[in-house]
Amino acid sequence: MVFPVSREPRIQCDVVRGTGPALLVHGGAWDIPPEEREAHETGALAAARLGLGSLRGGASALDTVEAVVTLLEDDPALNAGTGSVLNRRGEAVLDASIMDGEDLRVGGVAAVRTIRNPVRVARRVIEATRQVLLAGPGAEEFAREQGFEALRPEELVVPREVERLRDHQARRRAAVPGDTVGAVAIDGAGRIAAAGSTGGTLNKRPGRVGDTPLPGAGLYADSRVGGVACTGWGEGIARLSMARAVLARMEGGQDPADAARELLAACWSRLGGTAGLLIVTPDARLVTAWSTPRMARGWAHGGMETPAAAA
Ligand code: GLY
Repeated sequence: MVFPVSREPRIQCDVVRGTGPALLVHGGAWDIPPEEREAHETGALAAARLGLGSLRGGASALDTVEAVVTLLEDDPALNAGTGSVLNRRGEAVLDASIMDGEDLRVGGVAAVRTIRNPVRVARRVIEATRQVLLAGPGAEEFAREQGFEALRPEELVVPREVERLRDHQARRRAAVPGDTVGAVAIDGAGRIAAAGSTGGTLNKRPGRVGDTPLPGAGLYADSRVGGVACTGWGEGIARLSMARAVLARMEGGQDPADAARELLAACWSRLGGTAGLLIVTPDARLVTAWSTPRMARGWAHGGMETPAAAA
């Protein structure tokens, strides 16, 4: 459950001092049920492996986070792309964004239903438009213009989520995914980028858009300061401008792990919710922090032989 939370949550934090290039990925922060944990960890590990290979091969941080989030969107275990949670009407409705910390270009799509990989269309928003965020039918029309295949919306829906929605609507089960997928990377040239993608919240109101496509809320990247990707309760993350707020604290000299803890503490004490976030710094420190019971995450850097993951 991400909101409301009745007891003060425990904030957990991992810090890895890496050597570049490096990346962090996540597969969502929530009370991941035991039967879903292995699939979440496997998905995060595969994404970290792909990302490290991409960075070691000389790809940019921006290309790498796009490729990593595409892989996570295609993983039906996770709440993004195929396998997303369903809204009140039983529809998978997706949000995604991507940001280049070199020149602060950012692109997003919101409330789309006929796109297999929204993060790839978000990248096209950066490359082919002067806009930041395209929503609904306009975003889908843009995707067609850019040559993306029109998906039948039901192709994104998996039986597990039909059952989860049915159980939730019948109030038979309490676990509510506050899930997203995301990645933050720094490449060999010191460029930082971030990306995220989500089906949003279970049983959401039609038209609801969360934090994931909102720059400053669900993600932010500035190669001079760091990159952040958030997951969890989107309304709380948006109200706190969580990603940019973390970076503002880091600009002021605060340690990234302390900044993350402060924002997660405020999310609970001021708003009553929980979240998780990834931070990558210009000196390749990898910080993961979460106030949810669990967070699926993977990490890798130039000094590691193989990537690692946990859920
Ligand atoms: N963090 C994903 C959402 O609330 O939409």
